[in-house]
Amino acid sequence: MSDARQQALDYAQQNRERFLDDLVKIVAIPSVSMQEEHKDDLVRAAEWLAAHLTKIGMDNVQLLPTGKHPVVFGEWMKAGDGAPTVLIYGHYDVQPVDPLDLWKTKPYEATRQGDLLYGRGTSDMKGQAIATLAAVESIMRTSSLPVNVKWLFEGEEEMGSVSMEAFLPKHKDLFAADFCLNPDAGMIAADKPTITYGLRGLAYFDVFVWGPEHDLHSGLYGGTVHNPAQALIELIAGMHDENGSITLPGFYDPVRPISAEEHADMARLPQNVAFYQEQTGVPQLWGEPNYLPVERVGARPTLEVNGFLSGYTGEGSKTVLPAKAMAKISCRLVPDQTPHEVHKQLLAYMEANAPKTIKWEVKLLNAAPTAITDRDLPAVKSMAQAMETVWGVRPLFKREGGSIPVVSLLQDTVGAESVLFGASLPEDNVHAPNERLHLPTWYKAIDAIIHFFYNLG
Ligand code: BES
Ligand code: MN
Repeated sequence: MSDARQQALDYAQQNRERFLDDLVKIVAIPSVSMQEEHKDDLVRAAEWLAAHLTKIGMDNVQLLPTGKHPVVFGEWMKAGDGAPTVLIYGHYDVQPVDPLDLWKTKPYEATRQGDLLYGRGTSDMKGQAIATLAAVESIMRTSSLPVNVKWLFEGEEEMGSVSMEAFLPKHKDLFAADFCLNPDAGMIAADKPTITYGLRGLAYFDVFVWGPEHDLHSGLYGGTVHNPAQALIELIAGMHDENGSITLPGFYDPVRPISAEEHADMARLPQNVAFYQEQTGVPQLWGEPNYLPVERVGARPTLEVNGFLSGYTGEGSKTVLPAKAMAKISCRLVPDQTPHEVHKQLLAYMEANAPKTIKWEVKLLNAAPTAITDRDLPAVKSMAQAMETVWGVRPLFKREGGSIPVVSLLQDTVGAESVLFGASLPEDNVHAPNERLHLPTWYKAIDAIIHFFYNLG
């Protein structure tokens, strides 16, 4: 091992507590992108990151305005001619913390319990953002980076990266890079380093149903007026058939079949039926019977009810026929589906199936494209090698069920493929109460990023 590499690794090890302090500080900023009340907190988080980039020796650090929350940029372009340029991606926004009463610690006060650090954003993905900063700092303080780097921290990922589609083409040259290092994905298990090569897309809707002009006495009007909650439930129930397949017209037409080779690869992954049952605690799994669970999550589209609101749910028994009902419905998409097409299909389904007894409306809230990345990229090999050095086993390759909108946008605008990895584990409760980070895995991720840069250089 080169001296420089070893010195950086030593520095990282000696500074682990400090890196953890940095993480605690950024978790303390409640940067919930989709809630207006936190607007200033997003600016504070962006400013904190910008200051940190400057502190570790990055040049040209700036906050760039978008339609919504700022993007943080910084760079270090002194690696010399011929050295590749790596765009390091991160998002500093987080999901809302509710239901708050289910948290065992305070969501914005990162709390360590043994090997785990609890707090919103520890795993998705302030932890991983700090890991990239820690790795680069470790190299900068002990020698100098063997590659050029640029940074892109956005504050809208958790709301669908709404500004990115307009923002990236405008700043194409600023973000020009050979490829993107994206640590917003995860690992199958702490002892199973993982590289992700596919992400699902997303189309997220509000569906409203209106019945009577105002709530009615259920005794005086029940039986003459179609209950909007019932009408919406009937519509939702019809969106799947008895096999768990989605009934929106044309929904599966653009879905790429899974090749025999990919099926065999997926069948070898440790995410089997028992894995999903253990992670979720359900009595039995559900879904399309002709596909493996891991295929249903990574390579098949879905339709979920994220939330449902109607009528009286307080204490006691209020006899009411509600005036309205609403549901939050989202589809995870796979190549070559597009959110725009799925929006049209949902409208067509509603037009064909909504009864005459109600009025309805569908609103597209956010949309994320699907992505498949190049597994044979030299940078992917550098990361695979780095992970093998740190974990002692070769990484697994998987397709992820979650979405990261910027991955496809970077392919299309900057022409950069992404290396997708991360320290997030399936049991980290991301987007849920008691989100946490497994610190031994996080420290390994920092080391892997250091190795990755030296493997590239
Ligand atoms: N980091 C996640 C996606 C993810 C989670 C990838 C676990 C790999 C493993 C990301 O922050 C996320 O949650 N994205 C949203 C995007 C959406 C709002 C467009 C998602 O998937 O729900
Ligand atoms: Mn997330």
